[in-house]
Formats: sequence, C-alpha cells, structure tokens
Amino acid sequence: MRTHVVDHPLVSHKLTTLRDSSTDSPTFRRLTDELVTLLAYEATRDVRVDPVRVETPVSPADGVKLSTPRPLVVPILRAGLGMLDGMMRLLPTAEVGFLGMVRNEETLEASTYAERLPEDLSGRQCYVLDPMLATGGTLAAAIKFLVDRGADHITAITLLAAPEGCERVEALLADIAVPVTVVTAAIDEKLNEHGYIVPGLGDAGDRLYG
Ligand code: PRP
Repeated sequence: MRTHVVDHPLVSHKLTTLRDSSTDSPTFRRLTDELVTLLAYEATRDVRVDPVRVETPVSPADGVKLSTPRPLVVPILRAGLGMLDGMMRLLPTAEVGFLGMVRNEETLEASTYAERLPEDLSGRQCYVLDPMLATGGTLAAAIKFLVDRGADHITAITLLAAPEGCERVEALLADIAVPVTVVTAAIDEKLNEHGYIVPGLGDAGDRLYG
C-alpha cells in the first residue's frame, strides 16, 4: 500500500479550519468539498487515459481522454457522502456506487449495512471516499469488498489518517495483489482509547450531518 500525504498550503489551511471545533456545519461541509477537490487532483494522477486525436481550429492535435470502463467512485456512507461532490467536480463522468458502513463505537468493528455497487468491477479503477482512516477496519473492509468484485486499482481519499490505521490496512490487505493508494491531507499523531484520531477533527459524520 502506498500512502501519499498531499503537502500544499491550501490543503493545510482548509484542514486547519476543519479541525477547529468552532467551525459550524455549513462551513465544515463547504471546506470538505473544497479540500476533496484538491486531494482528488493528486489522487487522479494515475487515472487511465487513452490517446486521441482532435481537430483544433488550427490543426490536428494529439491528446487523451478517460479510458473505458469509466472509473467508479465509492463514498462510504454516511460521512463519505460529504466528499462526493468535490470528487465528481474533477471526474464528472465517473460512475458512483455506494457502501454503507458503520463502526461499532464499543468494539470498533466495522459492519456493512448497505451496498449498491456494480456486480462486476473487473478492470475498474475505484476511488473510495471516507474522511477518516482511524483503526482502518472500515477502509480495509471496503477495499476487500471492491477487490472481491474484481476491481484492479484502488485509491482511497481521506481527510485524515492515523498511523495505527495505515499499518492495520496494510496488514489486512497484505494478501491482495491489487495496487492500493491512500491519499490524505494529513497523518495525525495517534489514536486515543476511544478509537478517535488525535488531534483529529472529531466525528466527521456528526460535523457534516449531525
Ligand atoms: C467513521 C468514519 C469512517 C470510520 C473510520 O464512520 O467516517 O467510516 O468511522 O473508523 P475506522 O477506521 O476505525 O474503521 P462512522 O462509523 O462513525 O459512520 P458515519 O460515517 O455514518 O458517521
């Protein structure tokens, strides 16, 4: 698994305001949207394209267009929904599939309560959206789900990640041959005893939709 922390002053600026507990929900949603678009720019660096030739008003020119099958964007409900618009701004022709997953706040185990994905993901590039990579259970389960359906290239976009969670995802996916990249705005210091990222930004789902 490759982890890519996007090092950019605008990313850090927006993330800092997201962390601030005095930031209200409307502002939190708007900043999440803006931040995801910046992260998506980095996350789509290896999106597949095919060569094309177009006619400019002056002459023929070589260019590229997105390959088919189209990429699949998968927000993990509920908090990942707050990242969807920001992602689709860069990939408006992508298909969207949904995974509803929730973490039991006592056992910290993730479970799936809803799934609306194409049956066959053979040859598909998938972009998973979830603001928080805490213990890593949710993301690892989501990635396994996509790989089991045939996805052959997976990029997860998160706002924040915990070092323990990154290690756990890597360990849980050790037997998977599919390339996995995590693109994040920051890797924080640690997880606390409640499985929250420290310093983090609190519960992203509650701050977006609570
Ligand atoms: C949060 C978050 C991730 C997950 C991360 O979701 O949005 O999906 O927890 O935790 P993990 O890395 O320890 O598995 P939550 O379960 O609170 O659901 P919500 O998005 O509906 O608020």
